[in-house]
Amino acid sequence: MEFLKDIALPQSIEHYKLVVLIAAISSMIFLPYIGFVLGSIILSFRYRIQARKENNVQALAIAYQLAEVPLKTKSVLLFLGIIPGASLIFSFAQILQSTPAISVTLSGFGFLCVAIGLWLLYSYKQTFRIQGFLSSYRTLLKTQKEKGETAAGIEHYEAENTQTYARSGTYGIILLLVGIFLYSAAFALTANPSSWQETDSIFGVLMSFSVWIKFFVILALSAGSTGFGVLYFIVSKSTNEQEASLAALKKIGVRFSVIALLVLPITLLAQVASVSDEAISGPLYSLTGVGLVLFFLAAHFLYGYQRSAHGQSAAAGFFVFLLAACINITADSLDIGTATRGHAAVLSAQHEKNLEDLKTSLGVNIVTFTGEDIYNAKCSACHLFDQKKVGPPYLETIPKYEGKKSELVSFILNPVKKDPTYPPMPNQGLRPAEADSVGSYILRRVASLLSKAVK
Ligand code: HEC
Repeated sequence: MEFLKDIALPQSIEHYKLVVLIAAISSMIFLPYIGFVLGSIILSFRYRIQARKENNVQALAIAYQLAEVPLKTKSVLLFLGIIPGASLIFSFAQILQSTPAISVTLSGFGFLCVAIGLWLLYSYKQTFRIQGFLSSYRTLLKTQKEKGETAAGIEHYEAENTQTYARSGTYGIILLLVGIFLYSAAFALTANPSSWQETDSIFGVLMSFSVWIKFFVILALSAGSTGFGVLYFIVSKSTNEQEASLAALKKIGVRFSVIALLVLPITLLAQVASVSDEAISGPLYSLTGVGLVLFFLAAHFLYGYQRSAHGQSAAAGFFVFLLAACINITADSLDIGTATRGHAAVLSAQHEKNLEDLKTSLGVNIVTFTGEDIYNAKCSACHLFDQKKVGPPYLETIPKYEGKKSELVSFILNPVKKDPTYPPMPNQGLRPAEADSVGSYILRRVASLLSKAVK
């Protein structure tokens, strides 16, 4: 994955800021979403196992809803998981080029884990459909009283399906967890330039305190987005309020949100305390403070929802929590931006040098000549301002072009016969940009000469 750093080109400071912004936006989509998927699939898996053991239809319904909501369609996976996850790798590559930091490799492998994990979990979700189909088929067979061989066939499929979901569920969850850990490490290391050299292996990563803090912050955010997500997307939107499974889901949602809201302040404070010297900045503290206040506000809405069961409270809690998470992620990106600004300046100097080299090799450097340079090199042999030479003096011919620069430029680019007392002017073969700058120079010069003459 390090090769990505080699194809990235040094960028200007503006471009660099844009990359940090893109990384921030990508993580605002990626982290809450992946957290929601992870949390709800772990729950779904747990309920599904319970459903099988106890033959419990209600638990099965809960398990199904928990898997269905975050993994609704493939495009949801693509736009909320895969694309922002991939764009993070490229941002890291762009920010960390020509450093020994291993964040790019970490996020690259993290991405692979997340992508495969999501794919497995999607097939986990699909097994619910197969299960539903098989059981309705079984009921159909029962009503037709045709048991025997066919029913045995169904049992075989059912066993296979169980195996599939157990496997894809387990591996999917593990891969997602590993992926989240690798991304956490990539974030933590990027924000700490003094670790770029030291932390050069997975062992170093596992020993890094700030990596683990980051990981716990992201896990706590996952618990929160799962809790609030379940309350908002499943419980508050459901019309059938009597359903027992809904009460159970509400309990889960509230429990997860509460855990998150209790753990987050602690992990966030630990995170701020572990910020590297290079990354410390005033706005970092203020953003963390605002984030904390919003988490409390989310807790307030949660409490309101618990008491009144108004859908609006669930929605408010969800969005406030999301906002708090985004502010926290902004603080993180600010971290990265502050910590790497020295490196950004190095890259930008490199960028300017590359640009110069490129200009020289393409021969476009001439554009940087001034109008005066061009006049001296290309026109002064035949033209003076106040005296006749081979061509007429500019003080005579230029005033008519006053305010009509484009006409003058087109004459310079393509001279036509004007005054019979002079020979025709040969084409000087200038580029449009050059003709433009020499035209401006002559107009300016003539105007100033004339105004002096008036005085
Ligand atoms: C080899 C000599 C020569 C060179 C070099 C030359 N000119 Fe001229 N230029 C002339 C002559 C001769 C005329 C008169 C042509 C006519 O009236 O038909 C003229 C006319 C002009 C006019 C007057 C046009 C008009 O509308 O009356 C302008 C403006 C002018 N040149 C600009 C330039 C600029 C700008 C350059 C340099 C990029 C340049 N010239 C280079 C010989 C030259």
